[in-house]
Amino acid sequence: MTNKRGFFLTLEGAEGVGKSTNIEFITQYLEQRGIDYVLTREPGGTQLGEKIRELLLAVHEESMSELTELLLVFAARAQHLDKIIEPALAAGKWVVCDRFTDATFAYQGAGRGLSMETIGELESMVQGELRPDLTLILDLDPEIGMQRASNRGELDRFEREQMSFFRHVRQGYLDIAQAEPERCTVIDAAKSLKDVKLDLLAALEQGLSKIT
Ligand code: TMP
Repeated sequence: MTNKRGFFLTLEGAEGVGKSTNIEFITQYLEQRGIDYVLTREPGGTQLGEKIRELLLAVHEESMSELTELLLVFAARAQHLDKIIEPALAAGKWVVCDRFTDATFAYQGAGRGLSMETIGELESMVQGELRPDLTLILDLDPEIGMQRASNRGELDRFEREQMSFFRHVRQGYLDIAQAEPERCTVIDAAKSLKDVKLDLLAALEQGLSKIT
């Protein structure tokens, strides 16, 4: 155990932006530096959270109300914070999280049109003061992103949305980045993988320099 709280890094972006590949770059980087980290994801990350994820992603005969969707992502998050994120940070570890609450502002807020204020209230209720230290947002034209996502196989409940939904999601992320430039770095995911990796590593170096 150390007295120093760990570092909370989140990776965000709409469908098909290449999060999985880029997360590998991030974890390799941390391993090379001997940094102790926990890699996790939302919705999910815990046994119960993964069950909620299944509920959220599956296509059901009965349509899911937008409020149900919102409460489910926060229910999974409450469990995730309690079981994984908070204990890891308290132990001085890095937490690398594939999506977090910015996804809720982007998908349920900008995408579905739910109230940003309500989402903010739930955020405070579930997280208290806890926010990511650094958020990397992979940005890509949704036409390209959805093409990549549909090549991966069967589409989940979110991936079946219209292109206009993904345009709103993208804009939602860009709005967050503009409002919080200290925390968020936008990375152009249309560049070559090599260049995206360089941009990611530069953003990580900058993040690290703030805490060391
Ligand atoms: P993923 O496989 O990219 O993690 O996909 C999870 C899906 O869940 C993705 O379409 C975005 C969606 N999502 C939300 O709508 N709200 C949220 O708060 C989170 C974390 C994810």
